[in-house]
Amino acid sequence: MNSKLEQQDEYHWPHKHLLGIEGLAPEDIRFLLKTALSFEGVSTRSVKKVPALRGKVVVNLFFEDSTRTRASFNLAASRLSADVLDFSAKASSTSKGETLVDTVRTIEAMGIDAIVCRHNLSGAAVQIAKSVNCSVVNAGDGQHAHPTQALLDAYTIAKRKNLTKDFDFSGLKVAIVGDIAHSRVARSNIRCLQKLGAKVVLVGPPMLVPSIFKDLGCEISHSLDEVLPEVDVVNMLRVQFERLESQAFASKREYAVFYGLTEEKMKLAKDDILVMHPGPMNRGLEIESPIADGPNSAVLEQVANGLAVRMATLFLVTGV
Ligand code: NCD
Repeated sequence: MNSKLEQQDEYHWPHKHLLGIEGLAPEDIRFLLKTALSFEGVSTRSVKKVPALRGKVVVNLFFEDSTRTRASFNLAASRLSADVLDFSAKASSTSKGETLVDTVRTIEAMGIDAIVCRHNLSGAAVQIAKSVNCSVVNAGDGQHAHPTQALLDAYTIAKRKNLTKDFDFSGLKVAIVGDIAHSRVARSNIRCLQKLGAKVVLVGPPMLVPSIFKDLGCEISHSLDEVLPEVDVVNMLRVQFERLESQAFASKREYAVFYGLTEEKMKLAKDDILVMHPGPMNRGLEIESPIADGPNSAVLEQVANGLAVRMATLFLVTGV
């Protein structure tokens, strides 16, 4: 047996929680993505279930609106045969004044194995993890982190660029475009891509791409036209109107002209550029429909891949 395989055999996933990408070593990320590969086939079987988490209970605890991430975690847990409790924050005691810690401890007292949480406050997932004994998976906390989105994005890039053998992204250059300042997706993606060896360039208007992001080792550009010819992947972020405190650009029209991915701009890009968007999309603003639905787009693959990546995540953290 060669030494690479031996190393793989000796590897043990060490993390009880997935709170962010920063706590993961490159080999952890690669192991999780390889585990996702092995779960991917489950979704195409006629019986879409494996017994990996039979007898375990996973709670979805969403304090912030979400459609796709919530549904994705729900389905991922069901496909692993876990019992799933979908806990809606609006219908919960938190609206009656119960603290976050009381809420999660009460839920944990029902005997659960993992909490998947989304909250509008940065740091909420860490606080929950400190308060309970079960595993905690961060499904997005404020502007801080959205680790499973970054992992599914990396997985999607690897599949489209034929890098699933070793998930080594050296030589790849990825542009993340848009509202970087308010984006947990951007923060988690930057870390994940860099750990896998990719170069990251952040693109957007100065108000949304502050120069402090250079400290994370990224290039910064305020010109999508200049960046497009040199990147292999472009990840278009949603303009997060709900998080903008003041006007960050002159008008939606101007934003679309300079930073929207249009058919015109695609002429500047490499033929095989991979176009991504975490959703939900503002069609006509950050991305034009023909591009979102076109051959370079991986938007729906991202959704499909999210399932396998979240199955791998739940499987690994609950095994620790
Ligand atoms: C992202 C999120 O909620 O952070 N969406 C998602 O997880 N599907 C990105 C966004 O809201 O723009």
